[in-house]
Amino acid sequence: MIKKKKPELKLLISKYNKFHSLIIKLTNTNPFAAVYLMHEFSRNLYPADPYLPFKNNNHYQRIDLELTQLTSMAAKFFSRESYGRYKTNKFINSRKLSIEETTGSVYAPLWSSFNLNYASKVSKKIFFDRFLNNGFSKKDIINKSVADIGCGSGRYTFALNVLKPKELIGIDGSIDCIKVANAFKKKFKEKNIKFKKLSNLRLASFFKKKKFDFVLSNGVIHHTSDFKKSFDQIVKITKKNGKILIYIYGAGGIFWYARKKMREVFKKIPQEFTMKVLSMLGMPSERFVFVDNWYVPLEKHTTTEEFEKILRKYNFKSFKRLLKSKIKTDLDVAANDNKKIGKIIWGNGELRYLITK
Ligand SMILES: C[S@@+](CC[C@H](N)C(=O)[O-])C[C@H]1O[C@@H](n2cnc3c(N)ncnc32)[C@H](O)[C@@H]1O
Repeated sequence: MIKKKKPELKLLISKYNKFHSLIIKLTNTNPFAAVYLMHEFSRNLYPADPYLPFKNNNHYQRIDLELTQLTSMAAKFFSRESYGRYKTNKFINSRKLSIEETTGSVYAPLWSSFNLNYASKVSKKIFFDRFLNNGFSKKDIINKSVADIGCGSGRYTFALNVLKPKELIGIDGSIDCIKVANAFKKKFKEKNIKFKKLSNLRLASFFKKKKFDFVLSNGVIHHTSDFKKSFDQIVKITKKNGKILIYIYGAGGIFWYARKKMREVFKKIPQEFTMKVLSMLGMPSERFVFVDNWYVPLEKHTTTEEFEKILRKYNFKSFKRLLKSKIKTDLDVAANDNKKIGKIIWGNGELRYLITK
C-alpha cells in the first residue's frame, strides 16, 4: 500500500523551485511555453477557477500533482532540439516611467480590454457579494461623501455609485488608469463621479481640511513605495467615526511564496507578449489576476499580525477582518474554511478590513 505523504509547505516549495528553474531557462528559448506553463500553475493556486473548473478540489493534492506534471512538461522542451526559439524583443516597452506610472501602465491595458458586462455588472455583483455578507451597511454610503483610493478602471467606484452617495471621487496615481475610468464613465453614462489623478501618498496635502465619510481602497497600498504612509494618508482623509474599507495582500503559504518568485520569470518576458499568448489560449479578457502580479513593479505581502499591529497604533473605534464572502476565488475565505491545509497553501489569505475611525 502506498503511504500518503503528509501535506507540507517545505515539500511544495522545493517542487516549485525545481519547476521555476526550468521555466527561467524556457524564457530564453521558448517564452510562449513559459507563459503557458506558468499560467497553468498559477490558476491552480486559487481555491477555484470560474472559467475552467477544477476536477480535483483537494487543493494540496491538486497543486502537488500539477507541479509534478508541469515540471515534466517543461523538461520536455530541453529533450530535443527542434522546438523553435522565438524572439520577444519586439514587445519590449522602452518608456521610462515613475513607479506609479509603471504600475498604471501594467493595469491600464488589462482594464481597457475588460468586456463591458464585466466592468458594469459583474464587478458590482462581486463588490456587493463580498461586503454585504460582512455586516457592511448601505447606510455608510447613501448620501455620504465617498472616495475610492487607487480606483483603477473605476469598477468599484461604479459599484459604490449604485448607493447614491452625496459625492464620489475616484483617485488613481496613474493617468493611464484615469483615462480608462473616464472612458467607462462615459460609456455607462455614470453621473456624480469625479476621477482624478493623484498619488495616494499626497492625499492629505491635496485635500487639506476636506474629509470623507467612507473611503474604499481595494488592492492599492501594497503597490506603493511606502505602505505605512499610504495607509496613514487614507486615515487622514477619513472623518472621525467615518469608515475605511481596505483590501491588502496577505502572506505565507505556497501561494504567496510562488507569487513572489514568479515575478523573476516575467522580468524576462514583455507584458504585451504574455497577454498575446494568454489571449491565444482563449483566456477571457477580465481574467487579469495573473498578469498584474507578474508585472507590477512593487508588491508587498503582509501578515495579519503585522497589519493589526499597525491598526492598533491608531486607536480606532473598531476594526474587523471580513471573512465571509460568496466569492469562491477569495483566499481569505478558502484559508479559513480549509483549516488543515489552508495555511500551507494560502498562508493568511488576503486581508480585508472594515475600520471605524
Ligand atoms: C490592483 S489595482 C486596484 C484597482 C481598483 N481598486 C480595483 O480594485 O479594481 C491597483 C491600483 O492602484 C493604483 N496605484 C498604485 N500606486 C498608487 C499610488 N501611489 N497612488 C494612487 N494610486 C496608486 C494603480 O495605478 C492601480 O490602478
